[in-house]
Amino acid sequence: MNSFESLGLKHDGRTLWVLDQTQLPDAETWLDGSQPEAMIALIQRLAVRGAPLIGVAAATCLATFAHRGASATEYAAACAALRSARPTAVNLMWAMDRMRDAADPVREAQTIFEEDVRLCEGMARHGSELIQDGEGLLTHCNTGGLATAGIGTALGVIRRAHEQGKHIHVYADETRPLLQGGRLTAWELRKLGISSTLITDSMAALLLRDGKVQRVLVGSDRVAANGDFANKVGTYGLAVQARYHGVPFHPVAPFSTVDLACPDGAAIPIELRGEAEVRGFGALRWAPEAMPTWNPSFDVTPVDLVTSLVLDRGVYGDDELRAGALARVCG
Ligand code: MRU
Repeated sequence: MNSFESLGLKHDGRTLWVLDQTQLPDAETWLDGSQPEAMIALIQRLAVRGAPLIGVAAATCLATFAHRGASATEYAAACAALRSARPTAVNLMWAMDRMRDAADPVREAQTIFEEDVRLCEGMARHGSELIQDGEGLLTHCNTGGLATAGIGTALGVIRRAHEQGKHIHVYADETRPLLQGGRLTAWELRKLGISSTLITDSMAALLLRDGKVQRVLVGSDRVAANGDFANKVGTYGLAVQARYHGVPFHPVAPFSTVDLACPDGAAIPIELRGEAEVRGFGALRWAPEAMPTWNPSFDVTPVDLVTSLVLDRGVYGDDELRAGALARVCG
């Protein structure tokens, strides 16, 4: 196999290495993700995460498995098991369906990786045109190089605007309960040298009220045919707040995140995660041990709250989305 490297994945020709995102920003630890069972565990505990990246990582894992001599039966079983590792991000199912049907798994995984890099460039090109010099931008979760094979979705758009010399300031939600914003987006923003401030999720409404934010940009794990979309829990609340304050709100996603088989957001499966993530973080617990919790990992934002969706193929307003633009563009 060819070797390659992205921010969160690398392959040395024999072994697939995954940057353990649960250890960031304190430690950069690379774990072996070559075996399907190991990759499933890494995906489920969010060591590798982000909709496009879990598809790319699972595909590369399968290619490595095939390259090491897996039988057709072993390959098919691993493909099905990886496909159901997490339920919401459709990029995982999209990549596994491609791998299931591929004549040459190694070549197919390479193509999926390279395609994702190009899709990020497309989103960055179209999305950065929306951003004006001097804007304050608000984002949620982590949607950068750690979540994709390329420069990212929403964070890739922000990065491109920064590279274009636009003076922007980014407010990053910490993103409860797993702190993808506080740990991962903050880490990426510092590495990229982008002017930025970390806030807790509950501070966003104040920033919007005070006129500090001119645009909200978020990623997506699945976009339904009518433009409703799922993203990290908290996104829906941000969309409501942005609408109330008259601030444009844009999901940013590659076509591989669009699921035309879901007519609307009600059809998107939402992952429910464990109670410990709400009772505390890591080894630290602050809630009573037996306190009941509710931990949906994603929420659904209706298309009515979307100003426009940035795809790798262009930017589509809410009216176009409601009129079925996605079936035309992604069908
Ligand atoms: O649970 P995670 O960290 O995998 O959730 C990630 C997100 O919600 C991102 O916003 C989404 O995958 C799109 S970004 C590439």
